[in-house]
Amino acid sequence: MAKTITVIPGDGIGPEVTEATLAILEEAGAELDYDEQVAGLAGMEQLKNPLPQLTLDSIRRNGVCLKGPLTTPVGTGFRSINVAIRKEFDLYANVRPAKTMVPGGRYEDIDLVLIRENTEGLYVGVEHYIGLEGDPRAAAESVMIITRFGAERIVRYAFEYARENGRKKVTLAHKANILKYTQGLFLDVGREVAKDYEGEVEFEDRIIDATAMQLVVNPYEFDVLVMENMFGDILSDLMAGLVGGLGLAPAGNIGKDVSMFEAVHGSAPDIAGKGVANPTSLTLSAVMLLEHVGQPEVASRIRNALHRTLADVETRTGDVGGTATTREFTDAVCRNLE
Ligand code: NAI
Ligand code: MG
Repeated sequence: MAKTITVIPGDGIGPEVTEATLAILEEAGAELDYDEQVAGLAGMEQLKNPLPQLTLDSIRRNGVCLKGPLTTPVGTGFRSINVAIRKEFDLYANVRPAKTMVPGGRYEDIDLVLIRENTEGLYVGVEHYIGLEGDPRAAAESVMIITRFGAERIVRYAFEYARENGRKKVTLAHKANILKYTQGLFLDVGREVAKDYEGEVEFEDRIIDATAMQLVVNPYEFDVLVMENMFGDILSDLMAGLVGGLGLAPAGNIGKDVSMFEAVHGSAPDIAGKGVANPTSLTLSAVMLLEHVGQPEVASRIRNALHRTLADVETRTGDVGGTATTREFTDAVCRNLE
């Protein structure tokens, strides 16, 4: 029985990398049907709404979504649609694997997963200015919100992920030495949850700044990492850098009822329409989606084909040192499926 998923091709290079990804899924024999919907600029153009109700209904109905990048206009216009979708469906776990795909980079054989809390922390956006002596913006305040509920479910997610994927260790990164209440609560809850996995998954906690340094000095010390929202935002980009950049980085946003898989990069307006974008980020997101919906064999065939295609400089796209077009890359991935 094919699983129906919502597909949002997105803006800029979105439609190009989506077409490439769907071609690879088809060739690999993924048992998926597609319910195509619009959002972002495409939503504005076609339905006068950056996040149309039709799109939300489709995601809710199907429970699984594959999403290309969406353009967020700077200054004016709508707020980030990505954030709006995460909020609407309470997609609390942001799963960002960083795995070496292109040999010859700064590091070989990196294989890390960062689990970022996606709904709390400073990113709840509770901010305001404080006026003083005629200056309406003399100061600004932002509130970091950590709840026991939110901390518990994200740390538990990280341990369950480690257990299911045969991973050995969970590192909780924090700043509890300075932010004793918010980060302290996150750490305390993490230690409690870790007890349920004793003897099965190793646990350690580290200060966030030391973690950042150690990820660069010796990334092999880590396995699964879990942290609150903003720390996760920053370190997940650092980890993408360890393995060759945003063009290769996939992401899953997981909730109780709905999950959305997306390319980490944006709509790349500088190369949109030129047929040179690297579809790997979205294709790897689709690989995560396939694992999520219980099609791990197809997932690993695609992953292996991507590996083979990226290993050969002849079939690489420009962002990773080659000259292949999106089409040529896609054809090579399809040929490399075994
Ligand atoms: P970007 O990720 O679109 O581009 C940064 C650089 O990386 C550009 O030089 C681009 O050509 C290159 N690049 C990105 N993806 C690539 C790919 N698959 N293959 C080859 N090269 C690639 O980031 P930027 O320029 O800051 O943002 C552009 C727009 O995308 C903005 O409107 C932003 O709000 C939006 N955006 C959307 C995201 C999402 O929907 N998840 C995430 C990040 C940005
Ligand atoms: Mg980010």
